Amino acid sequence: MFDFRPEPGTPKPETYRQLLEAAEALTAGEPDAVANMANVAALMWDFLPELNWAGFYRVIDDELVLGPFMGRPACIRIPVGQGVCGRAAGDGATQLVEDVHSFPGHIACDSTTNSELVVPVMRDGSVIAVIDLDSPARGRFDAEDAAGIEALARILAERI
Ligand code: SME
Repeated sequence: MFDFRPEPGTPKPETYRQLLEAAEALTAGEPDAVANMANVAALMWDFLPELNWAGFYRVIDDELVLGPFMGRPACIRIPVGQGVCGRAAGDGATQLVEDVHSFPGHIACDSTTNSELVVPVMRDGSVIAVIDLDSPARGRFDAEDAAGIEALARILAERI
């Protein structure tokens, strides 16, 4: 049995330390990308409060294609360059959006989303996927969240 859920009220740095440790342990030695993305989506959902969506889009040709996630059904294909996820994939750069309604071109998969964090997963200098976290809370994500999810992306680079 895997029981990685943190105690409620755990400080953010400790939450990310535990999340990264759990992700490392769950994906080590497992070569199947879908299995690893599925388990990491579930870990992010369990560890990080105030989310309404947590998961992956994979870069396939010039599109982002929906991967494993937790939350409500989402947009399946997003052209690279469009929306928050497409911008992260196109620029190879983390997008931390305090208010998605003021992000030009934001793609609203769920009208309850107000803030978003998208982190590219890079392998050999190319973006192979993005990790997308959405929240109904405005300004839910900060630099600590970005650094934590970027560390997660580095763990996953060779495992998805
Ligand atoms: N809002 C995102 C689309 C993906 S979903 O929110 C799951 C965007 O603008 O890229």
